Amino acid sequence: MKVLVLNGPNLARLGTREPDIYGATTWPQLQQRVTEYGAARDLDVDVRQTDSEAELIGWLHEAADEGVPVILNPAAFTHYSYGLRDAAAQLRAPLIEVHISNPAAREEFRHTSVIAAVATGTIAGFGITSYLLAVDAVLALGAG
Ligand code: DQA
Repeated sequence: MKVLVLNGPNLARLGTREPDIYGATTWPQLQQRVTEYGAARDLDVDVRQTDSEAELIGWLHEAADEGVPVILNPAAFTHYSYGLRDAAAQLRAPLIEVHISNPAAREEFRHTSVIAAVATGTIAGFGITSYLLAVDAVLALGAG
């Protein structure tokens, strides 16, 4: 079963980007870890990243059309992209919102997620493990 793991802006900078907040794991390492974690559970996990809102919306349309579950770290788009939210609202399979950090414990502008209300649920604050917990959630929901 296929799962899309979609990531928004600046997440390919992992490893060098504010390591005190986001950790030392690099983007290629994250991709590999999540892909292998899924494969060990018979999931075909496709991990993608873009800095483009339009591209991310296009990937959500693809997931909506295919009925595929999505694990989404919308990064900064979390906090203001109604376009992304409207695309996420079209999904038919579960949507798990993930964050590496805990946005609720950070700056005020990060306390709002415009995605959360259209997500099945949110996993935040566990570092890279947030993604693995999201894979478990997809399986627990019987969607994978
Ligand atoms: C993030 C949190 C967002 O506030 C931030 O803009 C990111 C990463 C996280 O994974 O902790 O880029 O989504």
